[in-house]
Amino acid sequence: MTTTKALKLACIGCGARAQTYATLAARRPEQFEIVAGADPVPERVEKLRVISGRTDFRGFPDAEALLAAGKLADVAIVATQDNDHYRCCTGALRLGYNVLLEKPISTCVEQVLEIQRLARQMDRRVMVCFVLRFAAFYRKVKEIIDSGVLGEIVSIQASEGVMPWHQAHSFVRGHWSVVQKSSPMILSKCCHDTDIVHWLVGRRCRRVASFGSLEYFRPERAPSGTPARCTDGCPVGDTCPYNALRYIGDMRTPWLGMVYDRAQEASPDEITAWLRTSPWGRCVYRCDNDAVDRQVLALEFEGGVTGTFTMTAFANGRHIEVYGTRGVLKGGETYRHHFGTHLILIPHEGEATRYTVQAEDGGYELHGGGDPGLVNALYDEMTSPPGSPLAASLDSTVHSHLITFAAEEARVTGRTVALVQ
Ligand SMILES: NC(=O)c1ccc[n+]([C@@H]2O[C@H](COP(=O)([O-])OP(=O)(O)OC[C@H]3O[C@@H](n4cnc5c(N)ncnc54)[C@H](O)[C@@H]3O)[C@@H](O)[C@H]2O)c1
Repeated sequence: MTTTKALKLACIGCGARAQTYATLAARRPEQFEIVAGADPVPERVEKLRVISGRTDFRGFPDAEALLAAGKLADVAIVATQDNDHYRCCTGALRLGYNVLLEKPISTCVEQVLEIQRLARQMDRRVMVCFVLRFAAFYRKVKEIIDSGVLGEIVSIQASEGVMPWHQAHSFVRGHWSVVQKSSPMILSKCCHDTDIVHWLVGRRCRRVASFGSLEYFRPERAPSGTPARCTDGCPVGDTCPYNALRYIGDMRTPWLGMVYDRAQEASPDEITAWLRTSPWGRCVYRCDNDAVDRQVLALEFEGGVTGTFTMTAFANGRHIEVYGTRGVLKGGETYRHHFGTHLILIPHEGEATRYTVQAEDGGYELHGGGDPGLVNALYDEMTSPPGSPLAASLDSTVHSHLITFAAEEARVTGRTVALVQ
Protein backbone atom coordinates (compact mmCIF):
# COMPACT_ATOMS: atom_id res chain seq x y z
CA MET A 1 0.00 0.00 0.00
CA THR A 2 1.34 3.39 -0.95
CA THR A 3 -1.18 5.55 0.87
CA THR A 4 -3.67 5.31 3.69
CA LYS A 5 -6.08 7.71 2.02
CA ALA A 6 -9.48 6.14 1.32
CA LEU A 7 -10.38 5.64 -2.33
CA LYS A 8 -13.55 7.37 -3.46
CA LEU A 9 -15.87 5.09 -5.45
CA ALA A 10 -18.65 6.08 -7.87
CA CYS A 11 -21.05 3.38 -9.08
CA ILE A 12 -22.31 3.54 -12.65
CA GLY A 13 -25.29 1.19 -12.50
CA CYS A 14 -26.59 0.41 -9.00
CA GLY A 15 -28.05 -3.05 -9.63
CA ALA A 16 -27.24 -6.43 -8.12
CA ARG A 17 -23.49 -6.44 -8.74
CA ALA A 18 -22.90 -2.82 -7.71
CA GLN A 19 -24.82 -3.45 -4.48
CA THR A 20 -22.67 -6.51 -3.75
CA TYR A 21 -19.41 -4.62 -4.26
CA ALA A 22 -20.64 -1.52 -2.43
CA THR A 23 -21.75 -3.58 0.56
CA LEU A 24 -18.34 -5.23 0.76
CA ALA A 25 -16.52 -1.89 0.26
CA ALA A 26 -18.62 -0.21 2.96
CA ARG A 27 -17.18 -2.71 5.46
CA ARG A 28 -13.76 -1.15 4.87
CA PRO A 29 -14.28 2.56 5.55
CA GLU A 30 -10.55 3.10 5.99
CA GLN A 31 -10.09 2.05 2.34
CA PHE A 32 -13.27 3.07 0.54
CA GLU A 33 -15.81 5.89 0.48
CA ILE A 34 -18.83 5.37 -1.78
CA VAL A 35 -19.54 8.92 -2.89
CA ALA A 36 -21.86 8.63 -5.90
CA GLY A 37 -24.17 6.31 -7.80
CA ALA A 38 -26.14 6.49 -11.05
CA ASP A 39 -29.09 4.36 -12.13
CA PRO A 40 -32.39 5.06 -13.93
CA VAL A 41 -34.18 3.12 -11.16
CA PRO A 42 -34.30 5.57 -8.22
CA GLU A 43 -34.77 2.79 -5.63
CA ARG A 44 -31.40 1.34 -6.59
CA VAL A 45 -29.66 4.69 -6.20
CA GLU A 46 -31.33 4.92 -2.79
CA LYS A 47 -30.03 1.48 -1.86
CA LEU A 48 -26.52 2.63 -2.74
CA ARG A 49 -27.02 5.79 -0.68
CA VAL A 50 -28.01 3.69 2.34
CA ILE A 51 -25.10 1.28 1.79
CA SER A 52 -22.68 4.22 1.52
CA GLY A 53 -23.78 5.58 4.91
CA ARG A 54 -22.84 9.08 3.71
CA THR A 55 -24.93 12.23 3.86
CA ASP A 56 -22.93 13.73 0.99
CA PHE A 57 -23.59 10.75 -1.34
CA ARG A 58 -24.59 12.07 -4.78
CA GLY A 59 -27.26 10.22 -6.77
CA PHE A 60 -27.73 10.55 -10.54
CA PRO A 61 -30.47 9.31 -12.90
CA ASP A 62 -28.05 7.69 -15.32
CA ALA A 63 -24.42 7.26 -16.35
CA GLU A 64 -24.52 10.29 -18.60
CA ALA A 65 -25.54 12.60 -15.74
CA LEU A 66 -22.85 11.21 -13.44
CA LEU A 67 -20.17 11.58 -16.09
CA ALA A 68 -21.37 15.10 -16.94
CA ALA A 69 -20.70 16.08 -13.32
CA GLY A 70 -16.95 15.60 -13.87
CA LYS A 71 -14.59 13.36 -11.93
CA LEU A 72 -16.21 12.72 -8.57
CA ALA A 73 -14.14 9.79 -7.36
CA ASP A 74 -10.90 7.87 -7.83
CA VAL A 75 -12.54 4.72 -9.15
CA ALA A 76 -15.68 4.29 -11.24
CA ILE A 77 -17.41 0.94 -10.73
CA VAL A 78 -19.00 0.14 -14.09
CA ALA A 79 -21.78 -2.35 -13.30
CA THR A 80 -24.30 -1.62 -16.03
CA GLN A 81 -25.44 -4.35 -18.40
CA ASP A 82 -22.97 -5.90 -20.83
CA ASN A 83 -23.91 -3.73 -23.81
CA ASP A 84 -23.37 -0.52 -21.82
CA HIS A 85 -19.88 -1.31 -20.52
CA TYR A 86 -18.08 0.25 -23.46
CA ARG A 87 -19.91 3.57 -23.29
CA CYS A 88 -19.64 3.86 -19.51
CA CYS A 89 -16.04 2.66 -19.27
CA THR A 90 -14.68 4.87 -22.05
CA GLY A 91 -16.60 7.84 -20.63
CA ALA A 92 -15.07 7.24 -17.20
CA LEU A 93 -11.56 6.71 -18.60
CA ARG A 94 -11.72 9.96 -20.55
CA LEU A 95 -12.52 11.81 -17.32
CA GLY A 96 -9.46 10.27 -15.68
CA TYR A 97 -11.16 7.63 -13.54
CA ASN A 98 -9.56 4.30 -12.83
CA VAL A 99 -12.25 1.69 -13.44
CA LEU A 100 -13.51 -1.46 -11.76
CA LEU A 101 -15.25 -2.95 -14.78
CA GLU A 102 -17.79 -5.75 -14.64
CA LYS A 103 -17.20 -8.63 -16.99
CA PRO A 104 -17.41 -8.91 -19.92
CA ILE A 105 -15.17 -5.97 -20.82
CA SER A 106 -17.52 -5.43 -23.74
CA THR A 107 -19.64 -7.46 -26.13
CA CYS A 108 -17.58 -7.05 -29.29
CA VAL A 109 -13.91 -7.50 -29.90
CA GLU A 110 -13.30 -4.02 -31.37
CA GLN A 111 -14.68 -2.38 -28.22
CA VAL A 112 -12.62 -4.62 -25.94
CA LEU A 113 -9.46 -3.59 -27.80
CA GLU A 114 -10.50 0.08 -27.83
CA ILE A 115 -10.95 0.06 -24.04
CA GLN A 116 -7.46 -1.44 -23.74
CA ARG A 117 -6.03 1.21 -26.08
CA LEU A 118 -7.79 4.08 -24.30
CA ALA A 119 -6.71 2.86 -20.84
CA ARG A 120 -3.10 2.86 -22.06
CA GLN A 121 -3.45 6.29 -23.67
CA MET A 122 -5.00 7.78 -20.52
CA ASP A 123 -2.55 5.85 -18.30
CA ARG A 124 -5.48 4.57 -16.23
CA ARG A 125 -6.07 1.22 -14.53
CA VAL A 126 -8.99 -1.01 -15.40
CA MET A 127 -9.56 -3.97 -13.10
CA VAL A 128 -11.93 -6.52 -14.60
CA CYS A 129 -14.33 -8.30 -12.23
CA PHE A 130 -13.04 -11.81 -12.80
CA VAL A 131 -13.94 -12.68 -9.26
CA LEU A 132 -12.90 -16.31 -9.58
CA ARG A 133 -9.26 -15.23 -9.70
CA PHE A 134 -9.83 -14.07 -6.13
CA ALA A 135 -11.74 -17.12 -4.94
CA ALA A 136 -9.91 -19.26 -2.38
CA PHE A 137 -10.49 -22.41 -4.44
CA TYR A 138 -8.82 -21.13 -7.62
CA ARG A 139 -6.09 -19.39 -5.66
CA LYS A 140 -5.23 -22.81 -4.21
CA VAL A 141 -5.27 -24.43 -7.65
CA LYS A 142 -2.93 -21.73 -8.93
CA GLU A 143 -0.65 -22.11 -5.91
CA ILE A 144 -0.43 -25.88 -6.45
CA ILE A 145 0.32 -25.48 -10.17
CA ASP A 146 2.93 -22.80 -9.50
CA SER A 147 4.60 -24.95 -6.81
CA GLY A 148 5.67 -27.37 -9.54
CA VAL A 149 4.33 -30.42 -7.73
CA LEU A 150 2.30 -31.40 -10.82
CA GLY A 151 5.39 -31.16 -13.00
CA GLU A 152 4.88 -29.64 -16.43
CA ILE A 153 1.24 -28.86 -17.22
CA VAL A 154 0.12 -30.91 -20.20
CA SER A 155 -3.67 -30.53 -20.26
CA ILE A 156 -6.47 -28.85 -18.39
CA GLN A 157 -10.14 -29.73 -18.28
CA ALA A 158 -12.74 -27.37 -16.86
CA SER A 159 -16.49 -27.45 -16.63
CA GLU A 160 -19.25 -25.19 -15.49
CA GLY A 161 -22.62 -26.55 -14.45
CA VAL A 162 -24.78 -23.44 -14.57
CA MET A 163 -27.59 -25.27 -12.75
CA PRO A 164 -31.06 -25.62 -14.30
CA TRP A 165 -32.75 -22.89 -12.23
CA HIS A 166 -29.90 -20.42 -12.79
CA GLN A 167 -29.98 -21.17 -16.52
CA ALA A 168 -33.72 -20.52 -16.60
CA HIS A 169 -33.49 -17.35 -14.48
CA SER A 170 -30.62 -15.70 -16.37
CA PHE A 171 -30.31 -17.32 -19.80
CA VAL A 172 -33.90 -18.35 -20.65
CA ARG A 173 -36.09 -15.73 -18.98
CA GLY A 174 -33.51 -13.16 -17.96
CA HIS A 175 -30.96 -10.55 -18.94
CA TRP A 176 -28.72 -12.81 -21.02
CA SER A 177 -31.33 -14.97 -22.82
CA VAL A 178 -31.36 -13.15 -26.17
CA VAL A 179 -27.89 -13.02 -27.66
CA GLN A 180 -28.54 -9.91 -29.79
CA LYS A 181 -29.60 -7.94 -26.72
CA SER A 182 -26.70 -9.12 -24.56
CA SER A 183 -23.94 -11.45 -25.73
CA PRO A 184 -23.34 -15.16 -26.43
CA MET A 185 -23.31 -17.50 -23.43
CA ILE A 186 -19.59 -18.19 -23.81
CA LEU A 187 -19.00 -14.48 -23.22
CA SER A 188 -21.82 -13.51 -20.87
CA LYS A 189 -21.35 -16.46 -18.48
CA CYS A 190 -18.27 -18.41 -19.41
CA CYS A 191 -15.72 -15.63 -19.91
CA HIS A 192 -15.04 -16.40 -16.22
CA ASP A 193 -14.09 -19.93 -17.27
CA THR A 194 -11.96 -19.04 -20.28
CA ASP A 195 -10.25 -16.55 -18.00
CA ILE A 196 -9.60 -19.11 -15.27
CA VAL A 197 -8.26 -21.67 -17.77
CA HIS A 198 -6.03 -19.06 -19.42
CA TRP A 199 -4.86 -17.74 -16.03
CA LEU A 200 -4.07 -21.22 -14.69
CA VAL A 201 -2.28 -22.41 -17.83
CA GLY A 202 -0.37 -19.13 -17.95
CA ARG A 203 0.06 -19.29 -21.72
CA ARG A 204 -1.76 -17.72 -24.61
CA CYS A 205 -4.32 -19.72 -26.50
CA ARG A 206 -3.49 -20.40 -30.15
CA ARG A 207 -6.55 -22.20 -31.53
CA VAL A 208 -10.06 -23.07 -30.47
CA ALA A 209 -12.86 -25.31 -31.75
CA SER A 210 -16.36 -25.34 -30.28
CA PHE A 211 -19.78 -27.00 -30.50
CA GLY A 212 -23.00 -26.11 -28.75
CA SER A 213 -26.66 -25.28 -29.17
CA LEU A 214 -29.96 -24.57 -27.49
CA GLU A 215 -31.82 -27.85 -27.36
CA TYR A 216 -33.87 -28.02 -24.18
CA PHE A 217 -35.55 -24.68 -23.43
CA ARG A 218 -37.55 -24.63 -26.68
CA PRO A 219 -41.29 -24.53 -27.48
CA GLU A 220 -41.37 -28.11 -28.79
CA ARG A 221 -40.16 -29.33 -25.36
CA ALA A 222 -43.12 -27.75 -23.55
CA PRO A 223 -45.34 -30.31 -21.80
CA SER A 224 -48.77 -30.42 -23.39
CA GLY A 225 -51.24 -27.77 -22.32
CA THR A 226 -48.72 -25.42 -20.68
CA PRO A 227 -49.74 -21.77 -20.88
CA ALA A 228 -47.44 -18.87 -21.75
CA ARG A 229 -47.09 -17.90 -18.07
CA CYS A 230 -46.80 -19.94 -14.90
CA THR A 231 -49.44 -17.70 -13.32
CA ASP A 232 -52.04 -18.85 -15.87
CA GLY A 233 -52.86 -22.22 -14.26
CA CYS A 234 -50.22 -24.55 -15.63
CA PRO A 235 -51.29 -28.24 -15.61
CA VAL A 236 -47.74 -29.37 -14.70
CA GLY A 237 -47.00 -26.48 -12.33
CA ASP A 238 -46.81 -28.72 -9.26
CA THR A 239 -44.00 -30.83 -10.66
CA CYS A 240 -42.23 -28.39 -13.00
CA PRO A 241 -38.83 -27.41 -11.51
CA TYR A 242 -39.05 -24.10 -13.37
CA ASN A 243 -42.41 -22.98 -11.97
CA ALA A 244 -42.06 -19.19 -11.62
CA LEU A 245 -44.27 -19.23 -8.52
CA ARG A 246 -41.21 -20.57 -6.73
CA TYR A 247 -40.01 -16.93 -6.70
CA ILE A 248 -42.56 -16.47 -3.91
CA GLY A 249 -41.08 -19.33 -1.90
CA ASP A 250 -37.80 -21.19 -2.05
CA MET A 251 -36.39 -19.10 -4.93
CA ARG A 252 -37.11 -15.70 -3.40
CA THR A 253 -33.57 -15.47 -2.01
CA PRO A 254 -31.35 -14.74 -3.78
CA TRP A 255 -33.00 -15.00 -7.20
CA LEU A 256 -36.01 -12.70 -6.91
CA GLY A 257 -33.88 -10.09 -5.19
CA MET A 258 -31.64 -9.88 -8.26
CA VAL A 259 -34.49 -8.71 -10.49
CA TYR A 260 -37.24 -7.28 -8.27
CA ASP A 261 -36.35 -4.41 -5.98
CA ARG A 262 -39.11 -5.19 -3.43
CA ALA A 263 -38.23 -8.88 -3.22
CA GLN A 264 -37.89 -9.02 0.54
CA GLU A 265 -40.96 -7.08 1.64
CA ALA A 266 -43.41 -8.00 -1.15
CA SER A 267 -46.46 -10.13 -0.33
CA PRO A 268 -47.19 -13.32 -2.33
CA ASP A 269 -50.01 -11.43 -4.12
CA GLU A 270 -47.66 -8.62 -5.12
CA ILE A 271 -45.09 -11.07 -6.49
CA THR A 272 -47.78 -13.01 -8.37
CA ALA A 273 -49.02 -9.77 -9.93
CA TRP A 274 -45.46 -8.91 -10.95
CA LEU A 275 -44.98 -12.38 -12.49
CA ARG A 276 -48.05 -11.84 -14.69
CA THR A 277 -46.17 -9.27 -16.78
CA SER A 278 -42.49 -9.73 -15.94
CA PRO A 279 -40.13 -11.81 -18.13
CA TRP A 280 -39.50 -14.01 -15.08
CA GLY A 281 -43.13 -15.20 -15.08
CA ARG A 282 -42.88 -16.81 -18.52
CA CYS A 283 -42.95 -20.54 -19.18
CA VAL A 284 -39.33 -21.56 -19.79
CA TYR A 285 -40.35 -23.41 -22.93
CA ARG A 286 -42.10 -20.36 -24.39
CA CYS A 287 -39.56 -17.54 -24.16
CA ASP A 288 -37.72 -15.64 -26.90
CA ASN A 289 -34.38 -17.08 -25.75
CA ASP A 290 -31.59 -18.20 -28.03
CA ALA A 291 -28.64 -18.53 -25.61
CA VAL A 292 -27.18 -22.03 -25.80
CA ASP A 293 -27.81 -24.50 -22.97
CA ARG A 294 -24.67 -26.53 -23.71
CA GLN A 295 -21.30 -25.75 -25.27
CA VAL A 296 -17.89 -27.38 -25.41
CA LEU A 297 -14.52 -25.88 -26.31
CA ALA A 298 -11.29 -27.57 -27.38
CA LEU A 299 -8.30 -25.31 -26.85
CA GLU A 300 -4.65 -25.38 -27.83
CA PHE A 301 -2.24 -23.17 -25.92
CA GLU A 302 1.31 -22.12 -26.69
CA GLY A 303 3.73 -24.93 -25.99
CA GLY A 304 1.15 -27.53 -27.00
CA VAL A 305 -0.79 -27.46 -23.74
CA THR A 306 -4.32 -28.65 -24.50
CA GLY A 307 -7.55 -27.76 -22.77
CA THR A 308 -11.24 -28.48 -22.82
CA PHE A 309 -14.17 -26.64 -21.33
CA THR A 310 -17.78 -27.80 -20.99
CA MET A 311 -20.69 -25.55 -20.14
CA THR A 312 -23.99 -27.22 -19.37
CA ALA A 313 -27.24 -25.98 -17.90
CA PHE A 314 -27.70 -29.40 -16.34
CA ALA A 315 -25.11 -29.67 -13.59
CA ASN A 316 -24.29 -27.68 -10.52
CA GLY A 317 -21.00 -25.86 -10.08
CA ARG A 318 -17.54 -25.67 -11.52
CA HIS A 319 -14.95 -28.43 -11.75
CA ILE A 320 -11.36 -28.56 -12.83
CA GLU A 321 -8.78 -31.22 -13.64
CA VAL A 322 -5.16 -30.35 -14.30
CA TYR A 323 -2.89 -32.99 -15.80
CA GLY A 324 0.83 -32.66 -15.26
CA THR A 325 3.88 -34.82 -15.94
CA ARG A 326 4.12 -35.63 -12.20
CA GLY A 327 0.53 -35.74 -11.10
CA VAL A 328 -3.10 -34.81 -11.53
CA LEU A 329 -5.17 -32.28 -9.60
CA LYS A 330 -8.96 -32.68 -9.46
CA GLY A 331 -11.55 -30.63 -7.67
CA GLY A 332 -14.74 -28.65 -7.64
CA GLU A 333 -18.31 -28.55 -6.47
CA THR A 334 -18.97 -32.30 -6.53
CA TYR A 335 -15.90 -32.98 -4.38
CA ARG A 336 -16.92 -30.26 -1.92
CA HIS A 337 -20.54 -31.27 -1.74
CA HIS A 338 -20.29 -35.04 -1.73
CA PHE A 339 -16.77 -35.92 -0.61
CA GLY A 340 -16.03 -33.21 1.96
CA THR A 341 -12.89 -31.93 0.26
CA HIS A 342 -12.23 -29.32 -2.39
CA LEU A 343 -9.19 -30.61 -4.22
CA ILE A 344 -7.33 -33.91 -4.53
CA LEU A 345 -3.75 -34.00 -5.72
CA ILE A 346 -2.93 -37.43 -7.10
CA PRO A 347 0.76 -37.90 -7.90
CA HIS A 348 1.50 -40.49 -10.59
CA GLU A 349 3.40 -42.33 -7.86
CA GLY A 350 2.66 -42.01 -4.15
CA GLU A 351 -0.23 -41.02 -1.92
CA ALA A 352 -2.95 -38.51 -2.74
CA THR A 353 -3.27 -35.24 -0.80
CA ARG A 354 -6.62 -33.62 -0.08
CA TYR A 355 -7.08 -29.87 0.29
CA THR A 356 -9.92 -27.95 1.87
CA VAL A 357 -10.01 -24.21 1.31
CA GLN A 358 -11.83 -21.64 3.40
CA ALA A 359 -13.94 -19.27 1.37
CA GLU A 360 -13.97 -15.80 2.92
CA ASP A 361 -17.14 -14.00 3.92
CA GLY A 362 -20.06 -16.10 2.86
CA GLY A 363 -18.46 -18.88 0.93
CA TYR A 364 -19.72 -20.33 -2.29
CA GLU A 365 -22.76 -18.11 -2.72
CA LEU A 366 -20.39 -15.21 -3.26
CA HIS A 367 -18.41 -16.96 -5.98
CA GLY A 368 -16.42 -19.00 -3.45
CA GLY A 369 -15.18 -15.90 -1.71
CA GLY A 370 -14.35 -14.26 -5.03
CA ASP A 371 -16.53 -11.19 -4.48
CA PRO A 372 -14.96 -10.29 -1.12
CA GLY A 373 -11.56 -11.30 -2.45
CA LEU A 374 -11.92 -8.91 -5.36
CA VAL A 375 -12.99 -6.00 -3.14
CA ASN A 376 -10.13 -6.80 -0.74
CA ALA A 377 -7.71 -6.63 -3.68
CA LEU A 378 -9.23 -3.49 -5.21
CA TYR A 379 -7.45 -1.03 -2.96
CA ASP A 380 -4.00 -2.41 -3.64
CA GLU A 381 -4.73 -2.84 -7.33
CA MET A 382 -5.61 0.83 -7.62
CA THR A 383 -2.89 2.25 -5.39
CA SER A 384 0.17 0.09 -6.07
CA PRO A 385 3.14 1.86 -7.69
CA PRO A 386 3.21 2.20 -11.49
CA GLY A 387 4.41 -0.98 -13.18
CA SER A 388 3.37 -3.29 -10.32
CA PRO A 389 1.88 -6.60 -11.46
CA LEU A 390 -1.90 -6.47 -11.07
CA ALA A 391 -4.04 -9.50 -10.20
CA ALA A 392 -6.71 -8.89 -12.84
CA SER A 393 -5.15 -6.34 -15.15
CA LEU A 394 -6.82 -5.36 -18.37
CA ASP A 395 -3.95 -6.70 -20.45
CA SER A 396 -4.17 -10.17 -18.89
CA THR A 397 -7.96 -10.34 -19.19
CA VAL A 398 -8.32 -9.10 -22.77
CA HIS A 399 -6.84 -12.37 -24.02
CA SER A 400 -9.45 -14.33 -22.03
CA HIS A 401 -12.12 -12.38 -23.91
CA LEU A 402 -10.44 -13.03 -27.26
CA ILE A 403 -10.76 -16.76 -26.51
CA THR A 404 -14.52 -16.35 -26.08
CA PHE A 405 -14.95 -14.41 -29.31
CA ALA A 406 -12.92 -17.03 -31.17
CA ALA A 407 -14.94 -19.83 -29.53
CA GLU A 408 -18.23 -18.30 -30.58
CA GLU A 409 -16.96 -17.88 -34.12
CA ALA A 410 -15.84 -21.52 -34.06
CA ARG A 411 -19.24 -22.68 -32.75
CA VAL A 412 -21.19 -20.71 -35.33
CA THR A 413 -18.99 -21.52 -38.33
CA GLY A 414 -17.96 -25.04 -37.38
CA ARG A 415 -14.32 -24.12 -38.06
CA THR A 416 -11.25 -24.15 -35.84
CA VAL A 417 -10.35 -20.51 -35.21
CA ALA A 418 -6.82 -19.20 -34.69
CA LEU A 419 -6.28 -16.35 -32.22
CA VAL A 420 -4.37 -13.46 -33.68
CA GLN A 421 -3.24 -11.71 -30.48
N1 LIG B 1 -18.54 -10.75 -11.97
C1 LIG B 1 -19.56 -11.57 -11.90
O1 LIG B 1 -19.44 -12.66 -11.40
C2 LIG B 1 -20.89 -11.16 -12.43
C3 LIG B 1 -22.06 -11.82 -12.02
C4 LIG B 1 -23.28 -11.39 -12.53
C5 LIG B 1 -23.32 -10.33 -13.43
N2 LIG B 1 -22.16 -9.74 -13.84
C6 LIG B 1 -22.15 -8.62 -14.79
O2 LIG B 1 -22.41 -7.44 -14.04
C7 LIG B 1 -23.15 -6.51 -14.84
C8 LIG B 1 -24.38 -6.07 -14.07
O3 LIG B 1 -25.16 -7.22 -13.77
P1 LIG B 1 -26.30 -7.15 -12.65
O4 LIG B 1 -26.71 -8.54 -12.39
O5 LIG B 1 -25.86 -6.26 -11.55
O6 LIG B 1 -27.45 -6.43 -13.50
P2 LIG B 1 -28.55 -5.39 -12.98
O7 LIG B 1 -29.55 -5.31 -14.09
O8 LIG B 1 -29.00 -5.77 -11.62
O9 LIG B 1 -27.73 -4.01 -12.88
C9 LIG B 1 -27.49 -3.17 -13.97
C10 LIG B 1 -28.02 -1.79 -13.59
O10 LIG B 1 -27.67 -0.86 -14.61
C11 LIG B 1 -28.71 0.11 -14.61
N3 LIG B 1 -28.64 0.95 -15.81
C12 LIG B 1 -29.22 0.75 -17.02
N4 LIG B 1 -28.94 1.81 -17.84
C13 LIG B 1 -28.15 2.65 -17.13
C14 LIG B 1 -27.55 3.91 -17.40
N5 LIG B 1 -27.68 4.52 -18.60
N6 LIG B 1 -26.82 4.51 -16.45
C15 LIG B 1 -26.66 3.91 -15.23
N7 LIG B 1 -27.23 2.73 -14.90
C16 LIG B 1 -27.95 2.10 -15.84
C17 LIG B 1 -29.96 -0.74 -14.51
O11 LIG B 1 -31.10 0.02 -14.13
C18 LIG B 1 -29.54 -1.75 -13.46
O12 LIG B 1 -29.88 -1.35 -12.16
C19 LIG B 1 -23.44 -7.23 -16.15
O13 LIG B 1 -22.52 -6.81 -17.11
C20 LIG B 1 -23.24 -8.69 -15.83
O14 LIG B 1 -22.83 -9.47 -16.93
C21 LIG B 1 -20.97 -10.12 -13.33
